[in-house]
Amino acid sequence: MCGIVAYIGQRDVVPVIMKGLHRLEYRGYDSAGLAIHGPSGLEVYKRRGKVSELEDWVQDKNISSHIGIGHTRWATHGEPNDVNAHPHLSPDGKIAVVHNGIIENYESLRRHLLAKGYTFRSETDTEVLAVLIADFQKEHGFDLERAVRMALHRVVGAYLVAVLSTDEPNTLVVARKGSPGVIGIGDDEFLVASDATPIIEYTKRVVYLNEDELAVISDKGLTLKNLKNEQRSPEIEQLDLELTAIEKEGYPHFMLKEIYEQPKTVRDCLRGRLRANEATIKLGGIREYAEHLNRAERVVFLACGTSWHAGIVASYLFEDLCHIPATSDYASEFRYRNPVIREGDVVLVISQSGETADTLKAIDMVKERGGIVLGICNVVGSSISRETHEGVYTHSGPEIGVASTKAFTGQLAVLTLIALKLASERSTLSAMRLNQLLRDLDQVPQKIEEVLTQNDHIKAIAEQYAKVKNMLFMGRGAQFPIALEGALKLKEISYIHAEGYPSGEMKHGPIALVEEATPSLFLCFKDGNYEKVFSNIQEVKARKGKVIVIGEQGDAELEEISDAFIGVPAIDPVLMPMVSVVALQLFAYHMGVLNGRNVDQPRNLAKSVTVE
Ligand code: AGP
Ligand code: GLU
Repeated sequence: MCGIVAYIGQRDVVPVIMKGLHRLEYRGYDSAGLAIHGPSGLEVYKRRGKVSELEDWVQDKNISSHIGIGHTRWATHGEPNDVNAHPHLSPDGKIAVVHNGIIENYESLRRHLLAKGYTFRSETDTEVLAVLIADFQKEHGFDLERAVRMALHRVVGAYLVAVLSTDEPNTLVVARKGSPGVIGIGDDEFLVASDATPIIEYTKRVVYLNEDELAVISDKGLTLKNLKNEQRSPEIEQLDLELTAIEKEGYPHFMLKEIYEQPKTVRDCLRGRLRANEATIKLGGIREYAEHLNRAERVVFLACGTSWHAGIVASYLFEDLCHIPATSDYASEFRYRNPVIREGDVVLVISQSGETADTLKAIDMVKERGGIVLGICNVVGSSISRETHEGVYTHSGPEIGVASTKAFTGQLAVLTLIALKLASERSTLSAMRLNQLLRDLDQVPQKIEEVLTQNDHIKAIAEQYAKVKNMLFMGRGAQFPIALEGALKLKEISYIHAEGYPSGEMKHGPIALVEEATPSLFLCFKDGNYEKVFSNIQEVKARKGKVIVIGEQGDAELEEISDAFIGVPAIDPVLMPMVSVVALQLFAYHMGVLNGRNVDQPRNLAKSVTVE
């Protein structure tokens, strides 16, 4: 969600910040801005709209500096407009602040500052921070670091902030609570950003800011302190990320690139873990708590959005393969209930970004109640990967498209590995069945490749249906969460209203929506539910509803009753979700493009949802 990039060093800061802001665009935003130290004080350029518009506007101004802060805003307080865009200046023009997150007690801080005679220009929560820092400087003569620290002591909420002051034109202060921040260390230069993407082309040496930590960066170097003013020496880590991973490499959109990467990303995820020939699975990430998992009486999956869909697929797999009671819950619901978690219960949290606020809060709750939390995460070093007891990375590489695709198949691959490992530990599958599933799992990347060869056919179907206003997605068993995922992808990318349902629920309501203008998409495989779904398809046809079906290649009968048919290669039903979803991703992608949508950055959405 939103992004910060800041720079201090020898280079001209404006192109560095602009490039950084472009790199952060994928996170979702509505306005952009930057502040630099100019010849006569702090200069701020900000506006509603795209980074490229800011860039064009700033280009004519001929500005330059060696230090600056930039921001992409995803509005939480006050509508997206030029005034509410960041950076925010204090009334005396001495402090400039960019902020990711929410200041929850901003109303009371604002009242306190208004009573002291300060005025505000914007409706944002962030502006109070700029004023508060300036007030501490003015009242107590504090230097920038101390003024920021004192101001943050008064703040309740979540933030990554970067601050400049006219009193110290060679100093940049940043601080974090709840919103991630990375500091890149180059030769005589430092970059700070919300994630590593703006940093990677300058340096691979980074320091991750800890919770409640503040960094002071100046021509003297980097100092890290917590809010109690205790210093820690920076632990420099090496980024495991290549520039090509965050570029489009000839694809028109990141989303398409990431859909096409899936044979490789699933292979990378299985590599070294699945040993089909030896019929073993090795999960280095779950060691200390492996026995807890083996002995657990139930497992709970917690996640949001697409990751929650992976959790539902997993709950079916765990019940089926490991005979263990399993449920999947929205983290955003779980945390506001009074859920029963017993000592020793195992909770698996699933998150691409590793920064989802609701999921992080749910982890705290589970830990407080004595549960064991295992994480399935894509972003190495993310907050969730650090807060969980242990976990397994999906190794899908950076996912830039806001709509999750390759991270989802990565999550399914990891969850399948865990389920099969657990089934083997608990002896809930025959050796023959287990070995067969392991061999089939090894084949998944190749099956995904075969689905990708259908791209033109899927595009042609999308062309026929591009103008529909509503769609239904239906499936049974493990294909039900895939129907949910297909509907979510379509909504996010094309803004077409879509509902996902278990097809057994069709008669309990959604069938009322069926008419010629509302097509239904069914997932129908030879998985024990085939006849039932087949009947549901006929029920829709009988009501003149158009039917798009995703089924097994060569299923002539199914193709015959479909208005449009997408055949995917056969595989064990346990593994089919990883294969069938790829057809739905391509369908949503083409529907989005055909409707002229910005598929990589759909409106109102953010890549990591760091606010509740
Ligand atoms: C997926 O396409 C979404 N944009 C969204 O639902 C996402 O899956 C959700 O916000 C959870 O994010 P996470 O996996 O990073 O925790
Ligand atoms: N809460 C701040 C605002 O609305 C910051 C939002 C963001 O993180 O971009 O301006």
